[in-house]
Amino acid sequence: MTFDNSFTRREFLKGAGALGAVSMTMWLGGCEACQEQIAHRPTRRNIANLAANDPIITAYQNAVTAMKALPSTDPRNWTKQAQIHFDHCPHGNWWFLPWHRAYLSYFERICRKLAGYNDFALPYWNWTTSPSIPAVFWGNGNPLFDNTRGVGPSDQADPAWVGTTVIQNILSTGNFNIFASSPSSAPRGGTGGGYGELEATPHNNIHSWIGGDMGAFMSPLDPVFWCHHNVLDCLWVEWNINRGNPNTNDQNWYDLHMTEFVDENGQPVDVTVAATVLMPLFSYQFEPCGPAQEAPKKWQRAQLEAFLKSGAPVRLDVTQRMELKRAVTTEVGKPLASMAQLPADSLKTVLESQGKTAALLTINGAQVPQKTDFYVRVFTDKADASADTPISDPHYAGSFGFFQDAKAMPGMEVMGSEAKQLGFVVDLTPTLKRLSDAGGMQGPAVNITLVLVPYEKRQAAGQTLTIEKLEFAIANVK
Ligand code: C2O
Repeated sequence: MTFDNSFTRREFLKGAGALGAVSMTMWLGGCEACQEQIAHRPTRRNIANLAANDPIITAYQNAVTAMKALPSTDPRNWTKQAQIHFDHCPHGNWWFLPWHRAYLSYFERICRKLAGYNDFALPYWNWTTSPSIPAVFWGNGNPLFDNTRGVGPSDQADPAWVGTTVIQNILSTGNFNIFASSPSSAPRGGTGGGYGELEATPHNNIHSWIGGDMGAFMSPLDPVFWCHHNVLDCLWVEWNINRGNPNTNDQNWYDLHMTEFVDENGQPVDVTVAATVLMPLFSYQFEPCGPAQEAPKKWQRAQLEAFLKSGAPVRLDVTQRMELKRAVTTEVGKPLASMAQLPADSLKTVLESQGKTAALLTINGAQVPQKTDFYVRVFTDKADASADTPISDPHYAGSFGFFQDAKAMPGMEVMGSEAKQLGFVVDLTPTLKRLSDAGGMQGPAVNITLVLVPYEKRQAAGQTLTIEKLEFAIANVK
């Protein structure tokens, strides 16, 4: 991100106060010092650009070792940190991104202190460009290794959920709910919610694909967790700041107080979502992680801060809904094809709306077995799509996966009992546009095909997905 770095002492103090993240001594020296400090805030780097003996990697290893050695009465203890996630992490709703941002930020400060390395910034794992778990996370005796993983050093995350095309599609929506997951009345167990694409696609799938600790809510036990969430945070910065897409302006979102984290001294903190939106301005910055695009938006400092503090109203007004299926169960190896008859002008409206109108696939009330070794690929206008249809096929529209923990959230997803209804959305607009530009749209009928695809080398035969309602929706999103 680029911005003009001049701002007043008063503004700074407000920011620092809100974050609680900048020490007293830093600004007692006057604002030249604090501006300096902010201008040189640590850079979170791509692990692929770091040598195995880079001081950042060494510091991360030392920090993990130190946290594991702390008594379990210390809230900075390794298992205690993971327990915070198990007890509190919001998933499948709009607090997913800010909660994990705050979690990482305090964790980063703990690492910095325990490793005694002031320049430490948490590195990120960019699975789009490096689809295998990076080498620094492997090797017996290496504090960054976790022996519960279900994949090996040369296994690769599937481009269906981390590839350039799918990440580009996800970044191309201007809609907060579609990107960042939907409003809910509470971080856990509230009403509403629904997975946005960033969470459902790369996020969930990386968790389930790695499996072991990563497959459930104690996942922060695996050191790769933190670097996985760090690239998600970077992609939020890419979407929100570099591309200038607004977060929601809903006060209920900004006002959430998170009191479950501790700072580098093990002291409890109280941090709001309102403070997290400013963290990339005050506390850290990123080496760029998004797939190539035009130059990032140029911001005036004050303008950017105002933009982040206020957000914008999120529109997702469905104007037409077409039911595709109701109460249907599909199984690995048995693709589910369905067709929506669109009013002739609907598709045209979407294609010509310059992003104001979107064509969405909504999946409501999804139920999956407790153990899922598969994910779901979505194809448009390809009725005969199967697990063999490559994702390079122009009809491939996106995918979603599952990440949940029955122990952390009892009653959440055990089939046949009080199953919590998982909701997903796939924005079909970029794919429909590409198809139509290439002259490949049959229209006005649009086929939707869902294909349950097992993770590579995983036994998923017989696993099923039950959907309460599958719909095609046209929505005004701007
Ligand atoms: Cu709250 Cu990726 O986990």
